[in-house]
Amino acid sequence: MNAVKKNKEQKFQKKVFNWWKENKRDLPWRKTINPYYIMIAEIMLQQTQVNRTIEKYNEFIERFPTIESLVEAEIVEVLRYWSGLGYNRRALWLHNAAKQIIEKGSFPKTPEELVKLKGIGSYTSRSILIFAFNEDLATIDTNIRRILVAEKFAEENAPEKELLKIASKLLPVGRSRDWHNALMDYGSLELTAAKTGIKPISKQPKYKSSKRFYRGVIVKFFTRKETADAIEIAENCEIPIEQLDEILQSLQKDGLIKKDDNNYSLP
Ligand code: ADE
Repeated sequence: MNAVKKNKEQKFQKKVFNWWKENKRDLPWRKTINPYYIMIAEIMLQQTQVNRTIEKYNEFIERFPTIESLVEAEIVEVLRYWSGLGYNRRALWLHNAAKQIIEKGSFPKTPEELVKLKGIGSYTSRSILIFAFNEDLATIDTNIRRILVAEKFAEENAPEKELLKIASKLLPVGRSRDWHNALMDYGSLELTAAKTGIKPISKQPKYKSSKRFYRGVIVKFFTRKETADAIEIAENCEIPIEQLDEILQSLQKDGLIKKDDNNYSLP
């Protein structure tokens, strides 16, 4: 390894840790290393802001204090405690993941095992292992990517795989948990999107032409009309025909509509 480069990495680690000493956030999921609690927090944090997650997380773990208690709970009860976080499918996936972990008999210890669970992607699998087990892994979320770009370790158009490689080189071995907490605080509080002007890579598609928007339109349509075939749905809901199949299939897969012969309806 090149000596100059190593120096740059160590300097950066020092800068972030020094900043963090004075600025660390006190977040409830940082008070535990229980992988079940960390999994709950990371799934909640996938699409919900930190401040809105805190209270929901506290209520959730109070009601479902062990992974067994979550598995034994009725799904409506889980959904009740999820309400306010949005994306209810995540609650179903979490419940299901808990069930699979109990059946397996131990908590998964690698990203490869964790991503097999629905609702857990690359970022979440790695962050769970980092925060629960202090695993020397890198992980890329929008904050960490922004830091790498703002600090000139990565180009703005660098693909995820390259970002992971760069982030691995910056990782202080043996201090992964602290390092990632520090990076997340540094990205959220110091190198903010507003300050750096660096935009998230996956700009949400325009909502009104997004799959999510069309899914909502279709479900609403079925609250007015009991059954319809694909063509009626496309016409009434103004779905682009090339997207129709995919959207109907995704709704069926999520159990939001069902298909009998060629007619669709609510389940
Ligand atoms: N966003 C996702 N995971 C987080 C964490 N563990 N702490 C703060 N923000 C996060």
